Amino acid sequence: MRLEVDITGKTFTSAAGETHEVLAPLRFALCPGEVGVLIGPSGCGKSTMLRIILGLDSDFRGRIARPPQARIGMVFQEPRLLPWRSVEQNVRLAAPEVTEAKLSELFRILELEAHRSHFPGELSLGLARRVGLARAFAVEPDLLVLDEPLASLDDALAGRLRDEIATLVASRPVMTLLVTHSLDDAIRLGDRLFFLSPRPARIVQEIPIAIPRAMRSEADLGRIRAELAALPLESK
Ligand SMILES: Nc1ncnc2c1ncn2[C@@H]1O[C@H](COP(=O)(O)OP(=O)(O)OP(=O)(O)O)[C@@H](O)[C@H]1O
Ligand SMILES: [Mg+2]
Repeated sequence: MRLEVDITGKTFTSAAGETHEVLAPLRFALCPGEVGVLIGPSGCGKSTMLRIILGLDSDFRGRIARPPQARIGMVFQEPRLLPWRSVEQNVRLAAPEVTEAKLSELFRILELEAHRSHFPGELSLGLARRVGLARAFAVEPDLLVLDEPLASLDDALAGRLRDEIATLVASRPVMTLLVTHSLDDAIRLGDRLFFLSPRPARIVQEIPIAIPRAMRSEADLGRIRAELAALPLESK
């Protein structure tokens, strides 16, 4: 049971009929319990790749093997909540089997308790992102795909949520793919970092982090940060 990504290419055709290559050949696999982090310049094709991996875009060349019946949790770059449903209903619709205890715990962790009955139009972008996270976690996913989930949150809250993501990922054998522009998030959460080129995206470097997530000290993180800073990568 693992996720295997073998994309040989992806082309978009503009309204004017011009074609452009968005993804170059890309190949990697993720095992349960592993967090892969995609880091690359804006517009290089990260969200496009995630949509392909999730099966939302089948117009590409190559092959994706997802474990059959894998439960998928997804946080899109834009929160994409149903505007006519409350926060609680948005989460319950995605995760009909969620228990009240689990829901309360998620709302507490994500600091959403006061917003349960609010509608998406009443939320700030940061709050809406947290609802997106609650929805993805409530599913108890086997495959968790997070497209810049901590963007537009203040540093303190982003740090707390990053710890919660780490706890969730450690508590179940979930395969996680995280897109971030934050090297700090990448080295705190990731097991393998994939640095991508500008469009068309290809993996220019894959950096495994050998020390298990829970055992990384601040000194280890500092050393990893320094090692990454020394790499000649355009996408840092
Ligand atoms: N539906 C579409 N039709 C045509 N071009 C598209 C479409 N979706 C994305 N693109 C183009 O594909 C490229 C990759 O877009 P994508 O959203 O995957 O980038 P990204 O790496 O996620 O960027 P960011 O870090 O800004 O989120 C961009 O040049 C974008 O303009
Ligand atoms: Mg994107």
